[in-house]
Amino acid sequence: MEYITLNDGNKIPQVGFGVFMIPNDGSTYDAVLTALKAGYRHIDSAAAYFNEEDVGKAVRDSGIPRKEIFITSKLWLQDHGYEGAKIGIARSLRKLDLGYIDLYLIHQPYGDVACAWKAMEEAKTEGKLRSIGVSNMSVNIWNKFIPGFDTKPAVNQVEFNPLAQQKKLREVMAQTDTKLEAWYPLGHGNESLLTNSVVTALAEKYGKNAGQIILRFETQEGVIVLPKSTNPERIRTNLDIFDFELTETEIEEMRSLDTGKPSHDPEAPGVEEMLRGAFVIKD
Ligand code: A2P
Repeated sequence: MEYITLNDGNKIPQVGFGVFMIPNDGSTYDAVLTALKAGYRHIDSAAAYFNEEDVGKAVRDSGIPRKEIFITSKLWLQDHGYEGAKIGIARSLRKLDLGYIDLYLIHQPYGDVACAWKAMEEAKTEGKLRSIGVSNMSVNIWNKFIPGFDTKPAVNQVEFNPLAQQKKLREVMAQTDTKLEAWYPLGHGNESLLTNSVVTALAEKYGKNAGQIILRFETQEGVIVLPKSTNPERIRTNLDIFDFELTETEIEEMRSLDTGKPSHDPEAPGVEEMLRGAFVIKD
């Protein structure tokens, strides 16, 4: 596993296992234990995934020392504002029950983000959160909030894959040395990406599958990737990407696949309202 150093000095495993949409009925517990057994040391959860308890239990039962596992969770919209965020952070800490959270993110960038961030900065100072970051911030949203933050986000977790390379956003984030974390790093299984001739030719050359080529490109670009799979073989191979390296020419070929158009536009009309109505986190 390779690690990336964040702008606060903490280190993060460059490949993480995402648990979005896996239920808290034992399935997340099983999936996290499978991932840890396969070698993953970075689990990406969120209050709004409703499975923090299962994640915590799997980590505690894994037998792997807590400090060797990197846990991310995220504050949901209902807990924005200063007091709200304190409640949300305390709830995540209680549900995970792992002592501290390695990385905590503002999950969606709407409402009173600035005061929620203050509460996250305090929790970082207190050691409850080791690193703090944001998610789903486009360039405009970034420019609206980040100049007012005292602590610059360690990461911005956004949609990223070879068809959606977020070039402008990455330029802006580079100014604060904020790392990009990729959700949908495989284009969510998009066939036109997985069967693209540039990708399949490289897969042939290196004896890897299409997913591995895409993830290798992304990690060589300095991105932290969160590939999702429920298939044990792919869970394993998605981590097996550090024994080869794409050449600069090949990286350029992969860069040329960018369409500049992610599927999710955080600024689109109705997105904030849709997300606000999507989940209610209960104690
Ligand atoms: P599966 O669960 O059957 O492996 P993303 O991480 O971009 O959301 O993509 C997830 C989708 O990509 C899932 O449908 C997953 O299916 C599929 N997938 C995961 N790993 C690979 C891989 N190495 N090659 C092809 N498809 C993959």
